Amino acid sequence: MAREALYLQPAAEKRSGSRVGLVVTGVLGGSLVALYAVAAPFLAPALRKVCLPFVPATTAQVENVLGALRARSGTLVDIGSGDGRIVIAAAKRGFQASGFELNPWLVWYSRYKAIREGVHRSASFHISDLWKVSFAEYSNVVIFGVPQMMDQLELKLACELPSAAQVVACRFPFPTWVPERTVGEGIDTVWVYDAKTFTSRSQHGTAGKTTPEHDNKLDAHA
Ligand SMILES: C[S@@+](CC[C@H](N)C(=O)[O-])C[C@H]1O[C@@H](n2cnc3c(N)ncnc32)[C@H](O)[C@@H]1O
Repeated sequence: MAREALYLQPAAEKRSGSRVGLVVTGVLGGSLVALYAVAAPFLAPALRKVCLPFVPATTAQVENVLGALRARSGTLVDIGSGDGRIVIAAAKRGFQASGFELNPWLVWYSRYKAIREGVHRSASFHISDLWKVSFAEYSNVVIFGVPQMMDQLELKLACELPSAAQVVACRFPFPTWVPERTVGEGIDTVWVYDAKTFTSRSQHGTAGKTTPEHDNKLDAHA
């Protein structure tokens, strides 16, 4: 009997050891999958042709945007809305504000923050690629982009925006549009553009032409 127990003990130990191994592998595997699911949407923008990573606007930058739009009202869009700080701040100032953002985690977080701060009725967030949506319905447009995308975005907005719209560029100005004014300084500078100036140029065929070549350029960013 005692000899039998001696034979059985290593087998039982082996079984419980392999169970521990399975649990450890499962936990490790699950953690890696979860880590990938969270990190991938943050890394994806960096792997696109135009690398536009999540860099949140500073408090001074948000204040400069709102200061630039002080006399304005109506609809507002933040293109690449990140964690929603500009959209939420604009909604608190009475705008009907929307954000378009590629990263679903940032969109879910923005929606949660809008509810927590009581502006979910005037702040909405969409999981979308900025190159695949039209901004024609917005009278105030905010963009915190990177220099490599500003020429194409200039063409896109010149085609889409109504002449009564105003565009605010954070940190990096548009390459050919002439700003009406700037607000703030250093990295918090924002450039304010009146759509009247560029939509009339686009109607006269000198900017923002919708040609197959232009469409191809926009598609190349998507
Ligand atoms: C520089 S951050 C600006 C965030 C926010 N506007 C702010 O000022 O705090 C740019 C954001 O654009 C998002 N983004 C990058 N490529 C995008 C695309 N193709 N369509 C929509 N959003 C994009 C990034 O995930 C990032 O959150």
